[in-house]
Amino acid sequence: MSKSPWWASTSIYQVYPRSYADSNADGIGDLPGIISKLDYIRDLGVETVWVSPFFASPQLDFGYDVTDYEDVAPEYGTLADAQRLIDECHSRGMRVMFDLVLNHTSDQHPWFQRSRSSRSNPKADWYIWADGRGKHGRKPPNNWKSAMEFTSAWQYSPVRKQWYMCSFLPFQPDLNWRNPEVKEAMFNSVRFWLDKGVDGFRLDIFGQIMKDPGLANNPVRPHFYNGFPRLTDRVHTENTPDNVTLAKELRAVVEEYPGDRVLLGEVFGGPQVLRSFLGDGDGLQLVFLFDFLTYRYDADWFRSTISEFERNFPAPQQPTYVLENHDRSRTIDRVGKDPAKAKVLAVILLTVRGVPTVYMGQELGMSNTALRFKDALDPVAATVYRRVPQAVADRMSERLNRDEMRTPMQWDASAHAGFCPDGVQPWLPVNPDYQRGVNVAAEHADPDSMLNLYRRLFALRREHESLRSGSLAMLEALPEGVLGYRRNDIFILANLGEQPATVRYTGEVLAQTGRVVLANGRTTLFPDSSVILRTVVPKMG
Ligand code: NOJ
Ligand code: CA
Repeated sequence: MSKSPWWASTSIYQVYPRSYADSNADGIGDLPGIISKLDYIRDLGVETVWVSPFFASPQLDFGYDVTDYEDVAPEYGTLADAQRLIDECHSRGMRVMFDLVLNHTSDQHPWFQRSRSSRSNPKADWYIWADGRGKHGRKPPNNWKSAMEFTSAWQYSPVRKQWYMCSFLPFQPDLNWRNPEVKEAMFNSVRFWLDKGVDGFRLDIFGQIMKDPGLANNPVRPHFYNGFPRLTDRVHTENTPDNVTLAKELRAVVEEYPGDRVLLGEVFGGPQVLRSFLGDGDGLQLVFLFDFLTYRYDADWFRSTISEFERNFPAPQQPTYVLENHDRSRTIDRVGKDPAKAKVLAVILLTVRGVPTVYMGQELGMSNTALRFKDALDPVAATVYRRVPQAVADRMSERLNRDEMRTPMQWDASAHAGFCPDGVQPWLPVNPDYQRGVNVAAEHADPDSMLNLYRRLFALRREHESLRSGSLAMLEALPEGVLGYRRNDIFILANLGEQPATVRYTGEVLAQTGRVVLANGRTTLFPDSSVILRTVVPKMG
């Protein structure tokens, strides 16, 4: 039997480079800053570091708008720093993944500057250009919407008298992947980083790269998807079969290299659609399952969601769970900033079968930082959502200003939480709760902290093969409010309800959160508690 590849049982820690650690006192996190914190990441116990984009970019979308895929933005460091980051992860026994933005470039990329200059230049067909409708072609070519869903995906170019497509924001034109020259150039950039030893890539909006070449209108059907409204069904712009073909072509590129380099897709859709990106083991290896981002704190919700992903991603496939990232609300804010509930969620995330991903600061219980639209640096908040009244946005559980989740990492109780030196202005304000114990130094010293829980959970994953690769079986007939599942010899029980609950399971306690009492072969879980038990035999009667 072949040994399963490293990525099948890894855990991932997402670093947002601008906000992790500032090494040169300009208020902006950078690659040397990340390198200086790799011992912390190793000691946390995660196995793979994913670094959000640090490539050359005007930073209008903080790196998700690239002008050179083979260079590093000067504020983040140099190519030598990127190489050192890879090597220093490896020397600590960790893997490292970078972030590939394949769908679009910055409009300041030299390719686009050229492309937009005329209809006949050598790069004319490198982006998605189309004639408009109506008299003089001044209406967009079709009804395709941008990611925000309320604006057209098309931008007009008075020079070419044509429209170019932007799936995200107007300064992020979509590359034309049907042009073989584009594909070759982009695949060569992928090889550029593979040659340097990177272990894999997170793939930005991967399901949106191949659109219908016939530009058919998307059917109009207002609905909610993943917490946000949509006007249309994006059948012609998202998750088309050609995207799955592209997944296989990209897989072939990484297969040119030894070491099971991994592709992790940011893809949106139902479980079967997500699953399709894995092909028959010849597509992406992993896709994010974003349902946990909008979890309901409810045992039934977790039971049915986990069961659904178990059905759709049976071994050797791996579900990839995520509770928070740089785009969506912090976990703890969805449960009224209650650390007891956030701890239960951490236990679930790190004990279900699959690959867990943790966003920097999640391990501290960092929360959203209340910020105002008028100060927004996030281009989505600054251009699209700024029309939403602040008072309305403040009450929403979805955060419209992504700055709120991107504030600096909280290292200690010194000025700016130790992110940058005193007297330097950090690029975003630090959440003031760093002075109330939400920081690495304070939590390191507190055995009951969120940080020490995460460390314990990562350690358990490393110690117990059952948690890394064991099967998952839901426990049935549990009291209301209790979620329970079994990973071979390890049982996980969590009370998400409002009443204490007693279950007929017992064993050696590997970890617990909240109040849990074991007595007479039974375990009582008080509200918002959880426990991980080893080798338990359910008693009959
Ligand atoms: C998804 C990324 O996570 C987000 O931060 C970015 O703004 C968009 N893709 C556009 O690249
Ligand atoms: Ca810096």
